[in-house]
Amino acid sequence: MKLSINVDHVATLREARGENEPDPVVAAGICELAGADGIVCHLREDRRHINDRDVRLLREIVNTKLDLEMAGTDEMVKIAIEILPDLVTLVPEKRQELTTEGGLDLSSDNSRLSDVIKELHSKDIKVSLFIDPNPAAVDKAIELNAEIIELHTGRFANMRTEKDVLLELSRIGAVARMASEQGIIVTAGHGLHYSNIFPVVNIPEIQEVSIGHSIISRAVFTGLHKAVEDMIRIIRKNY
Ligand code: PXP
Repeated sequence: MKLSINVDHVATLREARGENEPDPVVAAGICELAGADGIVCHLREDRRHINDRDVRLLREIVNTKLDLEMAGTDEMVKIAIEILPDLVTLVPEKRQELTTEGGLDLSSDNSRLSDVIKELHSKDIKVSLFIDPNPAAVDKAIELNAEIIELHTGRFANMRTEKDVLLELSRIGAVARMASEQGIIVTAGHGLHYSNIFPVVNIPEIQEVSIGHSIISRAVFTGLHKAVEDMIRIIRKNY
């Protein structure tokens, strides 16, 4: 299993003071040195953490894979086409939310999304759709020609009883299996941390996880290099 690290929270800390540090671009370099397989940043409409300068510099320095997480708006598509990340992860975005609250709603008219995906593909940018773990959403993602689906693990992370955790986990596992049998690449993310990642690692169809909050939180105490190494050890089952 591979690990992409979301560096948004480093930018959040910078913005808390309106100064130049800590710099998410420096964080990305450290994550790569520690063995991360990719760097994720979410450019939000309100630029509350990552800003346009960060995305530009990340594109220059990231040597693994740059995943630009964004809403499928005209503004963001234009930026993606200028910056040329390796991958765009399309997410729904609500202005007031603290973090991305759910997967994309693919249940109604997807013609706008289809145009966005075609435009990104025309520039050789791969597209991942962030979806809730349900089979109908997988079918739609395949119809829309996305290369990757990222299964939303937020519900799993929020479950409080063992029974609910196992239920949600088996749902994620079944959807991952069904999707990968149809040839689409499956990744997962949201709310994953150093404890709840263990059972996710055992779902063989999930090729990669995208983690931000827990790694950057641990980095405050252990340093970023060690926080990344600790997570890599778990996901590679190297303990
Ligand atoms: N994947 C997506 C699509 C996200 O929106 C986020 C949060 O920015 C993450 C993964 C990472 O979530 P967390 O910060 O909870 O690890």
